[in-house]
Amino acid sequence: MKLLNGEIISNERYSEYLYKMVIFSPYICREARPGQFVNIRCAPEGIYDPLLRRPFSIFDIEEKFNVFSILYSVKGRGTEFMSHLEKGDLIDFIGPLGNYIDLAGTKNNVLLIGGGIGIAPLYLLAKQAVVMKKNVFFAAGFKDKSYQKWEDDLIELKIDYTIYTEDGSIGSKGMICDYIRSNIKLFNGYDVYCCGPKEMLKTIQNIYTKSSNRVSVLLEEKMACGVGVCNGCVVKVKHVKGEFRYKRICKDGPTFDIREVIFD
Ligand SMILES: Cc1cc2nc3c(=O)[nH]c(=O)nc-3n(C[C@H](O)[C@H](O)[C@H](O)COP(=O)(O)OP(=O)(O)OC[C@H]3O[C@@H](n4cnc5c(N)ncnc54)[C@H](O)[C@@H]3O)c2cc1C
Ligand code: FES
Repeated sequence: MKLLNGEIISNERYSEYLYKMVIFSPYICREARPGQFVNIRCAPEGIYDPLLRRPFSIFDIEEKFNVFSILYSVKGRGTEFMSHLEKGDLIDFIGPLGNYIDLAGTKNNVLLIGGGIGIAPLYLLAKQAVVMKKNVFFAAGFKDKSYQKWEDDLIELKIDYTIYTEDGSIGSKGMICDYIRSNIKLFNGYDVYCCGPKEMLKTIQNIYTKSSNRVSVLLEEKMACGVGVCNGCVVKVKHVKGEFRYKRICKDGPTFDIREVIFD
């Protein structure tokens, strides 16, 4: 993990609130793996407001060009600042952070379930699984067509996928969790990785309560240090005898066994 300054190669607007930023960084290309993230400073040089860095999953790595990208949704001041950055600007970040997902020794069938911006960490995982010649299925759910352009990225991976939108503007109309529930038998023998809004993750936890699939969840929480020092990003996990304890998403995660997580 290093403090880095990368040149922005592009900061493309995918839709009203969704952007893809490509950053030059041979170090991240060499060191980062699926599931990891970078913590970005979201203020001009010399300004410390907002003070805290903002965490973003590594969306893609293109080793050939020494670039990595993040896919981000504009939520507040930090991401608003990022959306105004341009090609040639420098961006200050720390990474790679968090534990990576190791696909070695896992099942040959991989099901990825992403809701909204929760698709961001799953893309690189899908890419890695394809390199390892695994059979990958991507199930993605969105509110509307704001993620339409992301589908072009997915098409490049040449994997099977389905998209559901709540308003039916792209893909099928409905909720991605209903699709998973109805097709649970189809995905017997798959390792599952999911990321998305808490309500969606709770539903997936529920769907898989009695199944034997290994189900991993990538969690997000507001972060401060990003390196396990401040305890600002804890999640409740099951412990012995019905008790619980806390784990830090940045240091112990961000990937957890979904069955150990207690969603409040
Ligand atoms: C490990 C990790 C990976 C992430 N990866 C991505 C990613 O790839 N792309 C992406 O767009 N976002 C990602 N996020 C969420 C992203 O960090 C927040 O959206 C961002 O910090 C918001 O900053 P802001 O200053 O724009 O908003 P703020 O002004 O800080 O907050 C605006 C609103 O967003 C909510 N919010 C802030 N942080 C989070 C969070 N972590 N989770 C949920 N809601 C939040 C706040 O409660 C508030 O309602 C990730 C978070 C974590 C912990
Ligand atoms: S953000 Fe500080 S411990 Fe996780």
